[in-house]
Amino acid sequence: MIHARLRERHEAVMPSWQSLYYEQPIALVRGEGRRVWDAEGHAYLDFFGGILTTMTGHAVPEVVEAIQEQAARMIHTSTLYLIEPAIELAERIAALAPIPDAKVFFTTSGTEANEAALLLACNARRSNQILALRNSYHGRSFATMGVTGNRGWSASSLSPFNVSYVHGGYRYRSPFRDLDDAAYISACVDDLRDLIDTATAGDVACLIAEPVQGVGGFAVPPDGLLGAMKQVCEEHGILFVTDEVQTGWGRTGEHFWGVQAHDTVPDILTFAKGIGNGLSLAGVVAHADLMDGVEANSISTFGGNPLAAAGGLANLRYLLEHDLQSNARKMGAHLRSGLADLVAGHAAVGDLRGKGLMIGVELVRPGGTEPDPTAASALLEACRRRGLLIGKGGLYGNVLRIAPPLSLRLEEADDGLAVLAEALDEIDGRRDAR
Ligand SMILES: Cc1ncc(COP(=O)(O)O)c(C=O)c1O
Repeated sequence: MIHARLRERHEAVMPSWQSLYYEQPIALVRGEGRRVWDAEGHAYLDFFGGILTTMTGHAVPEVVEAIQEQAARMIHTSTLYLIEPAIELAERIAALAPIPDAKVFFTTSGTEANEAALLLACNARRSNQILALRNSYHGRSFATMGVTGNRGWSASSLSPFNVSYVHGGYRYRSPFRDLDDAAYISACVDDLRDLIDTATAGDVACLIAEPVQGVGGFAVPPDGLLGAMKQVCEEHGILFVTDEVQTGWGRTGEHFWGVQAHDTVPDILTFAKGIGNGLSLAGVVAHADLMDGVEANSISTFGGNPLAAAGGLANLRYLLEHDLQSNARKMGAHLRSGLADLVAGHAAVGDLRGKGLMIGVELVRPGGTEPDPTAASALLEACRRRGLLIGKGGLYGNVLRIAPPLSLRLEEADDGLAVLAEALDEIDGRRDAR
């Protein structure tokens, strides 16, 4: 009843395009570690972390205390004043970033971080031509929607940019899908060269890419692809932006930043989501020359404010002190191998992929590759009924997204796998009964 009433009120005053999960949407009102409770008292294991944002876990005491302490002293000053926690956070991020002589500009969202990155690139190159990947997602503003290669998230064609889309991020449905890694990379690089020659005026500002496409269904290109593309970019002076909004902070397990799997140094890096553990904190990192090249004033009133920065700092400290990147690698491998066993007998699973704690399960109509978004929705419901929250995504809404907080424990991973096993059986049973 509580949820039904909330839903009525939500629908009366909030936009219809801000979609909700589940036939009967739920409100999450309390969390602890990897567990959350809804407004009607049901408990869940949280394997989506508010879209990969609850990074260290719910109600981590060290993070909560830092926020409470800062909130009681000073929530906001604006960037017109020195903000010590923001300075310290920027120092730490600059040291962790794979960019030499780095500077950091804080924003409040991933969208705004990518806006800033695009501004830096366009200013430096005096060009509004951008290269982006097909099946990408970079945000909800006009500029970032304009570099988003996903029809389902492109509500308008208005854009300040002239954009060309490159092959490569989403291998499962790529025309090059049957090639081995080296040949796939080579085909995508050839396409990039061809695109620059045929679709642009040559002086492109930047190529922006997610190392693992998040909204696009945790699509993982072969390691090295982005590095090979960066080499082509360098030949033309084109800057390379890595969007680490989902892949940053060790989530992919093997590296701290997703781009590091591609053996290359980006010119610009954007981050958001996990750093604030839910606080509104994001930003862009670039070499000092590039960052300082903006020739007009620019501020983000809330970006890196004392509250967000103090919470983000405590969250980052916790992540590093507990080496959650290693945990993401171990737990990711455990979940992945458990899932590989689970999906082996299920014709509805077309592809199992991912890195670390970013695992995608692409659902198709048995016998082919036709996307099956209905099965994805049914699986989401089946998991929820059994106390597990997971996410959904992909170009056709047919990919399950499994992305728990990086502090996931072994017994929780096993509990999640058990639910997924039952849910997959339920879906198969339903199909057989049809
Ligand atoms: C890769 C990527 N970039 C940018 C964004 C936009 O971030 P925000 O929703 O914080 O504006 C998202 C959000 O999901 C994302 O996944």
